[in-house]
Amino acid sequence: MDSINLSQEFTAHFHRTPSFLARAPGRVNLIGEHTDYNNGFVLPMAINRRVVLVGAPRSDRVVRIASCNFGNSGEFSLDAISKGEPDWLNYVRGVARTLTDYGYALTGFDAVMWGDVPPASGLSSSAASEMATIQAFLAAGVQAGSPIEVDGIKAAKIGQKCENQFIGVNSGIMDQFISSLGQPGHALKIDCRDYSFEAVPMPVGATVIVVDTTAPRTLAGSAYNARRADCEAGAVILGVDSLRDVTMAMFKRRQADLPTEIMHRVAHVVLEDQRVLDATAAMKRGDLEELGILMYHSHESLRDLYEVSSPDLDAVVEIAREAGEGVYGARMTGAGFGGCAIVLVDNAHVDRVSALLADEYPKRTGRTPNIYPCVAAGGASWQAL
Ligand code: GLA
Repeated sequence: MDSINLSQEFTAHFHRTPSFLARAPGRVNLIGEHTDYNNGFVLPMAINRRVVLVGAPRSDRVVRIASCNFGNSGEFSLDAISKGEPDWLNYVRGVARTLTDYGYALTGFDAVMWGDVPPASGLSSSAASEMATIQAFLAAGVQAGSPIEVDGIKAAKIGQKCENQFIGVNSGIMDQFISSLGQPGHALKIDCRDYSFEAVPMPVGATVIVVDTTAPRTLAGSAYNARRADCEAGAVILGVDSLRDVTMAMFKRRQADLPTEIMHRVAHVVLEDQRVLDATAAMKRGDLEELGILMYHSHESLRDLYEVSSPDLDAVVEIAREAGEGVYGARMTGAGFGGCAIVLVDNAHVDRVSALLADEYPKRTGRTPNIYPCVAAGGASWQAL
């Protein structure tokens, strides 16, 4: 939907004209999986799929939102925020609650909400909803004459806190960070320990194809939290604050002290952190072959050591490997347990490889994939209408 249609939806629903449009993108992670909550490195890019809020401020402390995707609506008071129905509104409630807890004086607003980041597919529709909501509160504050100041990194921290404390998933900061601060044509190499980041130009001549396995994401929340707990247990045994502080030399020296499963988790994190640094260097020198090899290694490690892949994700990576010329690499992206994989493909081969995936994946899994080539997009923003 474009902004004209959303404005019409707003007027139909709220019987007035909207004054702002707030938006935030979904993301894919090129490499650096399950490293963010270990204070490590990640290399995600924002994608050209987003969540949009078209709205106008209110003079009271109520937020009313109608969802164009779900066809229902909900509202809450900024003075009494708790989880409830409809479920999609919890991301808005959680952000409002977190901002309020931080002491921000918020302005209520009416809005219609729409997105084309498929939910529950590992492309961070929740982070996009959270970052778009912060932009809506920024817009409503400015337009009502009581502006609040939230910079891009602070917005990401607020989104993560909302996710951890309000939604109940112990996620790291990567998704909110890239949705907040993504840059067109670039991936961001983020150091999740000190939040420093570097924009790395996307390779010219290659495209990231997202393949949504369309498999239900089972156990996503609980298994995710369990992996995080494994990492924390490993850090305790090794006597470090976080696995970021574990060097390869230290790991080799101490690995016998770790229970096998935890040893595998730690090995993944230590190797994956290094892969992010190597992938960043490879991208900078335009070495797509090396970048692709690192992607395959990352996938194998997530499959065998971290145990968060799935037969469907593995099938995508296998098909990509078998596709031959033009495919540099492939891997699952995001938390795993279903969701999406990405394939890095030479531009000249995008149509052929997409067609091959569309043909082969159902034969191997019985499911129909959603396949979309992606472009690196900019981060969250708002504009007056
Ligand atoms: C999810 C989380 C992120 C990150 C990834 C795995 O997307 O929200 O914080 O941990 O999984 O890399």
